[in-house]
Amino acid sequence: MTSNTPACEIGLIGLGTMGRNLALNIADHGFAVAVYNRTADKTREFMAEVVGKPIAAAYDLGEFSRRLKKPRAVLLLVAAGPPVDAMITELQPYLEPGDLIIDAGNSHFRDTDRRGQELAAASLLYMGLGVSGGEAGARFGPSLMPGGPPAGYQRVEPILRAVAAKVRGEPCVAYLGTGSAGHYVKMVHNGIEYGLMQLIAETYDLLKNGLGLENADLHQVYTRWHQAELASYLVEITAQIMKIRDAQTGGWLLDVIVDRAGEKGTGIWTSQEALALRVPIPTIDAAVSQRALSGLREERSAASAVLPGPPARPADQPENFIAKVKNALLAGMFITFAQGLALLRRASRHYGYQVDLAQVARIWRGGCIIRAAILDDIRTAYGRDPELANLLLAPNLRPGLLAIHPDLRTVVAAAVLAGIPVPGLAASLSYFDAYRRAWLPANLIQAQRDYFGAHTYERLDASGRFHTDWQKLASQDQ
Ligand code: 6PG
Repeated sequence: MTSNTPACEIGLIGLGTMGRNLALNIADHGFAVAVYNRTADKTREFMAEVVGKPIAAAYDLGEFSRRLKKPRAVLLLVAAGPPVDAMITELQPYLEPGDLIIDAGNSHFRDTDRRGQELAAASLLYMGLGVSGGEAGARFGPSLMPGGPPAGYQRVEPILRAVAAKVRGEPCVAYLGTGSAGHYVKMVHNGIEYGLMQLIAETYDLLKNGLGLENADLHQVYTRWHQAELASYLVEITAQIMKIRDAQTGGWLLDVIVDRAGEKGTGIWTSQEALALRVPIPTIDAAVSQRALSGLREERSAASAVLPGPPARPADQPENFIAKVKNALLAGMFITFAQGLALLRRASRHYGYQVDLAQVARIWRGGCIIRAAILDDIRTAYGRDPELANLLLAPNLRPGLLAIHPDLRTVVAAAVLAGIPVPGLAASLSYFDAYRRAWLPANLIQAQRDYFGAHTYERLDASGRFHTDWQKLASQDQ
């Protein structure tokens, strides 16, 4: 595009891989987009690659703002945290009341709320947009999780619908609610992502170290799993990872990767937030903790020499065991979604987002990292009953879960006996067992609290709060 080209529909700041790919995706759908990057060389480099596309470069923010149709819409694709605030501060003088800023990074939802309030005071609209799907998603169709002022969403809805992934013709985007709803949903998406990745990693450990399967066998197993109920992006890429050779050694690439998981914090945010709202999400918590435990590599290595365990062999026929592990993973995945969506349900009430969980399940079916076939049924469950307290209770899902959960139990038991750590599967099973339990031993916890702290307790046979002088009674008894 030249400087004479008509005003652009949208502007995009930040030409990292995600920004570049999103700009190309927007342009490919016929929307003119103005791009700006703090380092001008990056912009020049990008422009040389996109000749002929409706993309206009700007080399300062004044030029950038002049290229945009009014009221302006600006997408930020800069690193989450202080860079977002810095860019907003730089950009603000070039904007006018009614203009819209959309943060498409993995920002913490509280930052999004704060920025939204600050910008509202300057009569600017601010949206938090969760974007999932990595680089390929940004280029060819991400799942988009927008939240913020409805007027802002309406303005960019045609663009978002055009660029989003499509599942059977439906774009994977829906307005999720006011304020930070979009970034909150993306945070929970990432928490679920952590949980699912941990569960799959545990099945890999069980099949590799428990059954002694080679990577080529594992490729077959995960490929088969992906062709049935476990069909999902993460199982699919796991199957592919198993068959990749290392160019340097000729061996399996996976086998030369250091067993220390990185993270950028969104899983921790999910756990922190769930703790704050008192929503149990133990599978996700286990996944977060297990990444931290993987980081203790030197300690683990030293401990492995002095803390021997049982031989890592589950006592079952290999084919039987593989089938059970498959069901255990399916149950674990389902329970992880149940936990994440229970958190969203509570948060939606707490923060007033009014998130439609059927829509969340719908837009997670394509484009995003946690896309999975079971989301079709999850969408149906919330479509039929938006007030569903927990996915475990959904009439269309419950029979399937009840049929496979014995395999989750068998696999966790086998792993425990073989000394193979399965914190995600075990947490999923315990969550299921605790949730389906009419009675929990919390009466004892209440008694203990009242004993040492006079915190009082409630009785089954009378209303009100009660306190007992436990110590006195106990000493009288002696
Ligand atoms: C996505 C991913 C994406 C990113 C994760 C990685 O939905 O596209 O979730 O946002 O890959 O944030 O997170 P960790 O680095 O914490 O594993």
